[in-house]
Amino acid sequence: MSDRNIRYNREFLNWDKTKFNNDSKEYRPFYHVSPSIGLINDPNCVFYLNDTLYIFFQHHPANQLHGLKTMSLAKTKDFVNYEYNYMINKPENSFESHGVYSGNAIVYNNKVFCIYTGNQRDENWDRTSNIVLAEFNVLNESFENKKVILNNKQFSEYTEHFRDPYIFEYNNKFYFLLGAQNKNNDGKILIFSIDLDTLESNLISEISFPNKYKMIECPNVVVKNNKALLIYSPQFKDGINSNDINPDVVRYSIVDIDELFNGCLVNEEHILDYGYEYYAPQTFSINEKWYVIAWVGIPTSNNFIEKDNGWIHTLSSIREITFNNEDVVLNELESFKNELIKNHKENYVFYNEVKIKNNDSISIKGENDFLSINFKNKNLIFVRNSKYRYNQYSSIKKIPLNINDCKLELFYDNSSLEIKINDKIWFTCRLYLGKDFELRVNNEK
Ligand code: FRU
Repeated sequence: MSDRNIRYNREFLNWDKTKFNNDSKEYRPFYHVSPSIGLINDPNCVFYLNDTLYIFFQHHPANQLHGLKTMSLAKTKDFVNYEYNYMINKPENSFESHGVYSGNAIVYNNKVFCIYTGNQRDENWDRTSNIVLAEFNVLNESFENKKVILNNKQFSEYTEHFRDPYIFEYNNKFYFLLGAQNKNNDGKILIFSIDLDTLESNLISEISFPNKYKMIECPNVVVKNNKALLIYSPQFKDGINSNDINPDVVRYSIVDIDELFNGCLVNEEHILDYGYEYYAPQTFSINEKWYVIAWVGIPTSNNFIEKDNGWIHTLSSIREITFNNEDVVLNELESFKNELIKNHKENYVFYNEVKIKNNDSISIKGENDFLSINFKNKNLIFVRNSKYRYNQYSSIKKIPLNINDCKLELFYDNSSLEIKINDKIWFTCRLYLGKDFELRVNNEK
């Protein structure tokens, strides 16, 4: 079978639920969303209803490759234990023939509206990106009333890279962001208005970026007072950013709400998480507070140890977002931290707090991986070495910190490592330690 036939084989769409029983626990995080089989990527259509958080995610159950995507569901009431229902949104119509791609959800008038990308290809492999609105029926957990709102072919300035709608409400009206690429190869975020009754939708503005991105994936917005926090996953133009150690790093920017609706050039960008694997985050609200969850994976790497056990990738923990005019702070959830502190899973799960000064270092050595963190000249330098995988990018990451003392909080869950630095900066990655690892703090003599 050709690579394409393997990736887009439709046979798995008829699998029954027993196919998803996989007892292999090796390296599967206990308190994060991870699939029993197949590949997962972006969190999708996250919403909170009836004391339950619903997290859909991109899922290709058939193998550990990106391919014909469905959306599966993980539900939680305590934000640490998840219940799964697989392949709830399937590519069942011609307008989504090659996968139901990313999007988000909004609860309005007691209905859950999901907006997502219908990835359609014809026999010449020509792609149409359809923006689809559906209702999620909470009682029988199904996607209903799927309707195409618009597609890239209706907009002559944009290419087929036209996806990942993010619906939001502002001043009692609905809008959605869209990641796009124009025909000059520039990455953009588009803003459309949408009427949820008539489905009429109009392009109202275009957000631009410095000349380095060819596409913006998974844009999100959180509006507070007159400020908009934009979070997005950019893809670099070829040849640009050759010095960037890992280009797949999520950015954020805070702009005035007027600038957002009038179309602006984003020139001040910050990094949301410096880790090796953290991509396509999705923001959502619970009782007026905002949170974010991401894919712990990156598009440019597909080679992780758990592949041998029939699944690949995981989602991040949920972090609460607070932001003011120029700064964003993400905080872990108490329930998550407490679960790690309890350490019920022997050493496979831990929380640890470490303080270091200039010239100190930390090393974590496990059965497959070795991570060293050196604090030098106000830079925190990460080096990851592994017996296996990872990607074509260097294993070195540098975080500039304007301080002399450094506090690191390590949240580890059986291969998922999330580090919070000085109560503010995050670094997320996979690390395959096993039970008998060694964590050392090396102080300067
Ligand atoms: C980001 C992404 C999205 C797309 C989805 C497909 O990881 O490429 O742009 O909708 O994954 O799975």
